Amino acid sequence: MKPVKIGILGLGTVGCGTVNVLVRNGQEISRRAGREIKIVQASARDLDKKRPCSTDGIKLVADPREIVRNPEIEIVVELIGGHDVALELVLEAIANGKHVITANKALIAIHGNEIFAQAQKKGVMVAFEAAVAGGIPIIKSVREGLAGNRIEWIAGIINGTSNFILSEMRDKGADFADVLKEAQRLGYAETDPAFDVEGVDAAHKLTILAAIAFGIPLKFKQAYIEGISRITRMDVQYAEELGYRLKLLGIARRAGGGVELRVHPTLIPERRLIANVEGAMNAVLVKGDAVGPTMFYGAGAGAEPTASAVIADLVDVVRTLTADPNHRVPHQAFQPDALTDTPILPIEEVETSYYLRLHALDRPGVLADVTRILADQQISIEAILQKEPSIGEDTVPVIILTQRVKEKNMNEAIKRLEKLSSIKRQVARIRLEHLNADWK
Ligand code: NDP
Ligand code: HSE
Repeated sequence: MKPVKIGILGLGTVGCGTVNVLVRNGQEISRRAGREIKIVQASARDLDKKRPCSTDGIKLVADPREIVRNPEIEIVVELIGGHDVALELVLEAIANGKHVITANKALIAIHGNEIFAQAQKKGVMVAFEAAVAGGIPIIKSVREGLAGNRIEWIAGIINGTSNFILSEMRDKGADFADVLKEAQRLGYAETDPAFDVEGVDAAHKLTILAAIAFGIPLKFKQAYIEGISRITRMDVQYAEELGYRLKLLGIARRAGGGVELRVHPTLIPERRLIANVEGAMNAVLVKGDAVGPTMFYGAGAGAEPTASAVIADLVDVVRTLTADPNHRVPHQAFQPDALTDTPILPIEEVETSYYLRLHALDRPGVLADVTRILADQQISIEAILQKEPSIGEDTVPVIILTQRVKEKNMNEAIKRLEKLSSIKRQVARIRLEHLNADWK
């Protein structure tokens, strides 16, 4: 049988990783796909740049439109990133009847509804395994492996760069900026690393996971997003003393007639497996009603782990090239006419436990004022801990762990706490999740 001809848009970290793995494992991959996969064209902005992959036998072009317009090419692999140029190229490729594979979570989270609708019309596939959790086959697992379940919630460490930063800060006392530079050197970080540390990249991935888990449209704009840039070493240390680890979690959960879609630093009991996921590794917990909790773990970023997911999509697409489009796995796991427009809950309606850090004057009655304000907002205290004051400070840090309460109650309580004359500085708040197997 003739080889399937593909074109790669972008020869950066993931593009070169994909070329290297496709060449190295070419025979194994063909045995699985049933046909040889041949890269005939690839694009990059700077054709003179030295690259960590061999481009022998591949026609290099500076204009990626040449690839999406090349009639020889059946599958276009988009590895440029961003959602302006990439969107134009992907839509043009689809319009030209080409199947598309992408690792671009921003593109899918923001424009996926439009892209899938166009692909549906043209009867082509759009595959995006590499867009979520790098090398972990989480899309296929949720979309196919867990298809018998009603998914209740997903909680994941889905940004390798942030996890790498938090791990290095905790283990080596390293400085935030230095670790970020190292993540950039290793090729984990996005072109704009603010996407990683401010939680945006994790929210892109969570939006995609929620869509395929719950059968809802992609609703990135409604996700609640908070990154790790305001986390202090003091909180990481206090939380550890109480038996918790700090992680940037993406949580998607069915609750109260809607779906929670939130990314924020989260304290997790240190005995949970997911609390022990370190460095650029990712892990995704998926709770299905039939299977119970499942956990998927692996490299969330980097050239070859991501290439592994891109090539898995290639094999899938090649295997089904001749299948009737109506008999392929639907892009969003659920049939397009069976999606439900379940609302995303505003963060004020979300219920979690909390860690609070207050700086209080060390005098009688202060804690009584604090506990009265919490009680007024129906907030039950789980634990309370008063730390030694730092040298030269006239306040003592007070750490409070609470039971579950709606965010709007906590917002009101914090507003009132900060008005007390005995409470100095802003109250620090970190959400806390136990991630118990029976959490619904
Ligand atoms: P890189 O920045 O390393 O590579 C991007 C490639 O696209 C480069 O070859 C670049 O050309 C080319 N390019 C950039 N801008 C343009 C443009 N405007 N027009 C044409 N070509 C352009 O990115 P990555 O490989 O890291 O990421 C690619 C995609 O994969 C992104 O969507 C990213 O989010 C996603 N991803 C990345 C992971 C990772 O670990 N890096 C993991 C999972 C997903 P040139 O080389 O000449 O500059
Ligand atoms: N910047 C992303 C991360 C790459 O750090 O997880 C993988 O999507």
